Amino acid sequence: MAIIDLRDVTKRFETPAGTVVALDRASLSVAAAQLVVVLGPSGSGKTTLLNMIGALDTPTEGLIDVGGKRVTDLSRSQLFGFRRQTVTFIFQAFNLFPELTALENVRFGAEVSGHRSASQLAVQMLEDVELGDRVQHFPHELSGGEQQRVAIARSLATGNPVLLADEPTGELDFRTGIQILQLLRDRTNDGKTVVVVTHNREISRMADLVIELSDGHIISSAPPSGGTVDATELRW
Ligand SMILES: Nc1ncnc2c1ncn2[C@@H]1O[C@H](COP(=O)(O)OP(=O)(O)O)[C@@H](O)[C@H]1O
Ligand SMILES: [Mg+2]
Repeated sequence: MAIIDLRDVTKRFETPAGTVVALDRASLSVAAAQLVVVLGPSGSGKTTLLNMIGALDTPTEGLIDVGGKRVTDLSRSQLFGFRRQTVTFIFQAFNLFPELTALENVRFGAEVSGHRSASQLAVQMLEDVELGDRVQHFPHELSGGEQQRVAIARSLATGNPVLLADEPTGELDFRTGIQILQLLRDRTNDGKTVVVVTHNREISRMADLVIELSDGHIISSAPPSGGTVDATELRW
């Protein structure tokens, strides 16, 4: 069964300058434990699509199922539970709480999802992203790549089955970017489903499924033509 399923999803924004069709009858289906890359130029509707999957925004038309839930039918309080227990957005590093240490930032992720031994889990997540020796550092005492890894550890600490990342390598140097992509790939080996949005075509080579967007339309949805490669084979 698909863990993410969209049927004819359209999103229109009404603006003073007129109607913007950010997504136009998009349909897609994603099996669990896949790494999906959503590819497209700026303005093609990538962020809109991700926000629909994560229930940060609602479609104008269409049906969305995620993790066995019909997201488009959930009440406000059900949506609250859905965001806590099903989907997790991997935000850019600048979303870290500046006044909290790395450990406290990650523990927050665990607490939001109601984990009992949140501190223990937070330490383990920081070790997983190779920051076991930085737990007491504040964000401003960490490099950009380290901050991004803390942000990822915080997202992973939720334990949620669907991870959504909008341009996760955008602010990072190449080497750190590859490291982040490897971390995301590791999660699919743990059974999580990961959706990565990017305008960088090279990243699509490591996907199980590539969904290509142009002007709000899904123009293709298929495995990468050259087969799925390891993140370490990517170059940009
Ligand atoms: N809140 C909004 N109000 C009006 N237009 C929007 C809004 N969000 C996105 N758009 C428009 O929808 C289109 C798709 O945007 P977006 O999903 O952010 O694209 P991408 O992430 O691929 O750059 C763009 O034309 C953008 O200007
Ligand atoms: Mg975007």
